[in-house]
Amino acid sequence: MIARRQLLSSATAAGLVTLAGPALAATPGIRRLRPAPAIAQLAPADMAGPADVWAYDGQVPGPEIRLIAGERVQVRLENGLEQPTSVHWHGIRIDNAMDGAVGLTQDAVQPGGSFDYDFVAPDAGSYWYHTHNRGWEQLARGLYGPLIVEEPEGWAGADRDVVLVLDDWRLGPDGRIDEESFGTMMDWSHAGRLGNSLTVNGVSGPEIPLRSGEGVRLRLFNTANARVMTLGLPGHTCWLVALDGHPVVPRLLADNALTLAPAQRADVLLQAEAEPGARLPLQLITPGGEFEAASFSYGPQPALRTSFAEPAPLPGAGRPAVDLQGALALDLVMGGGAMGAMQQAIADGQQRGMRELVAMGRVWAFNGIAGDLDEPLFRVERGRPVHLRMVNDTAWPHAIHIHGHHFKILNRNGAPDPHGDWRDTVLAERGETVDIAYIADNPGKWLLHCHMLEHQAAGMVTWFEVG
Ligand code: C2O
Ligand code: CU
Ligand code: CU
Repeated sequence: MIARRQLLSSATAAGLVTLAGPALAATPGIRRLRPAPAIAQLAPADMAGPADVWAYDGQVPGPEIRLIAGERVQVRLENGLEQPTSVHWHGIRIDNAMDGAVGLTQDAVQPGGSFDYDFVAPDAGSYWYHTHNRGWEQLARGLYGPLIVEEPEGWAGADRDVVLVLDDWRLGPDGRIDEESFGTMMDWSHAGRLGNSLTVNGVSGPEIPLRSGEGVRLRLFNTANARVMTLGLPGHTCWLVALDGHPVVPRLLADNALTLAPAQRADVLLQAEAEPGARLPLQLITPGGEFEAASFSYGPQPALRTSFAEPAPLPGAGRPAVDLQGALALDLVMGGGAMGAMQQAIADGQQRGMRELVAMGRVWAFNGIAGDLDEPLFRVERGRPVHLRMVNDTAWPHAIHIHGHHFKILNRNGAPDPHGDWRDTVLAERGETVDIAYIADNPGKWLLHCHMLEHQAAGMVTWFEVG
């Protein structure tokens, strides 16, 4: 295990993306996860030096945790930071006590302290773990990693699996993290902390080896604090096979592009149709043009196959709709932020005007409440369907995430969503209304928040109780 990890990190140092092998069963017993200061070369090595980061086990992203659905995960968090921290298992329909939500399901783990996480991961898919304390700073410094839950029955649709974790960092010209700008109200009230430097698996512009004729399951992650990423995969036939871990009926990626909001994931089957020796990009598509985030570089071996079939769906694709009979129907109105219409909101139990909210750093609200967490947004009996109408009444997009449950997208701006995907995080564009539904079947206290972490910190957070 150690030898393998060393091999992997030397491969990343050389700019090669590491490739996951076949299913690795979880090591029995407790695995240690230690967040602590570390050094990482985030900027291109010929342009700037390394950065001081905070990392799990010295790696950014943190070590991949891989298991098979239904297996038990035991992780001892040992806090080597000078700040309290926790680990949240994003997207896992987890036992509430293991959710890592500081202030709601557990106390923060103090420096030098530890916490034992012990849970079963019920669903196969691409998930991730990250700190859930001061996320706006701790994630921006590197505290996240992939959590891959494999299908017990396997999947014949791909020859192999490649994990690609994308993050954008705000670096100074020396390649170090811009620490000065943490917590600035300018970021918090606008789009959030956007970076200026993209990494894929912790390095800038890596090469991803491909063999002509193979089908590769790309597991794409957006772990940025706030950047919505549109990714382009030109030159390949690409099938979307899962979103936020949930299998979808395979569909061709329109324009060979897909958008991932912060915290979202997509599994894409890439059919490597180019000739041996070819080189094709993974692009970040922005209004200002296309940037090469990484490159697919084909080896010299002869093609594995010369034609591709349509991929078989992942097991569980085409999950049925939620029966809304007897549903608890609620509106979740997002308000606040720069250039918004919000005049006032409740913070610390009192109605306050915008000027005061800015001074308190509470500039966003759900239903007129700017981050007060003493009461839940709602309580719901276990097993009851919930129908949430999310109204984005702000000038900014938001990536709304619900803990402990998966939800189905019903409508966008009143019209049925063409795909009706299941997700754990949904992007609501400015002015957009998104209807979602889920069964509140997981007892406990669950956060609901914007995954633009500065928005979360500045009031766009609430919770609900199932019980
Ligand atoms: Cu990715 Cu509240 O979490
Ligand atoms: Cu989560
Ligand atoms: Cu937001």
